[in-house]
Amino acid sequence: MIDQWNGRPPPGRIAYVDGRYLRHGAAGVHVEDRALQLGDGVYEVCRIASGRLLDEEEHLDRLERSLGEIAMAMPMGRAALKAVMAELVRRNGARDGILYLQITRGALRRDHPIPERPPRPTLILTVHPISPAAVARRHADGVAVVLRPDQRWARCDIKSTQLLANLLAKTEARSKGAFEAWLVDRDGFITEGASTTAWIVDREGQIVTRELSHAILPGVTRRVILQTAAEAQIAIVERRFTPEEAHAAREAFLTSATGGAVPVVQIDGRPVGEGKPGPLTRRIMALYAEHSHQT
Ligand code: PDD
Repeated sequence: MIDQWNGRPPPGRIAYVDGRYLRHGAAGVHVEDRALQLGDGVYEVCRIASGRLLDEEEHLDRLERSLGEIAMAMPMGRAALKAVMAELVRRNGARDGILYLQITRGALRRDHPIPERPPRPTLILTVHPISPAAVARRHADGVAVVLRPDQRWARCDIKSTQLLANLLAKTEARSKGAFEAWLVDRDGFITEGASTTAWIVDREGQIVTRELSHAILPGVTRRVILQTAAEAQIAIVERRFTPEEAHAAREAFLTSATGGAVPVVQIDGRPVGEGKPGPLTRRIMALYAEHSHQT
């Protein structure tokens, strides 16, 4: 992360922008780029583990879907894009980290409607290191979350670069010493975290996560966990749940490509269950770790 480097990325770090591999510090986009001017872009975050990209196809499937929802096509064929991704990981010598990929509608005189003749899309890829020790610590100790109103737009299924509501909620969480904010919709149900999927083990001992809709991002990690849990004959119920249920839950956890499955041990200052990572959470973490080593 940039702050680990005191704002200065180490020399040798490489970014990819529009067909060129550039020194990270020298890479940039046009001042009229529509993502910069209007938030007109989508993105993906893919985990690099032992130098390999986890669940790459699923991330590219979701990218293609996000693009389709904003009337854009993939800027290049999938095989070519995968080659660029692999090359960037290679050029950065990345073992553990994340690959960030953003596609914008490109640079054009600022005007809101989607242009009839769209400019060439901008494709940006960067690699960010993550600290395996920090991830391991979160896995061992669990994290705290706070509940905040969901103030995002009505198409949270699109992985849009417009993240103001997410970052405001996350900032509030951090100011309260919590790792994440779980967002509560107007009907009084938890949607998801500001950058993670939310899960509880309810009073009946059932793992619960919200069903897919426009209200949440279809998490790749969520999908992998649903699949591996089904294979291991662990039932998961997809339904919405309330803050009251979260407070009364036996266990809770959150998931994302960046951190995998992370136990949630405190919600709004109150312990979840016994206030430590629970047995079902640890089972899910083990299943996900197994999957990560295999793919
Ligand atoms: N965040 N919900 C939201 C709002 C997210 O932004 C993310 C991912 C997730 C989890 O999705 P996945 O399992 O595919 O990572 C759920 C990424 C990591 C980010 O914005 O950095």
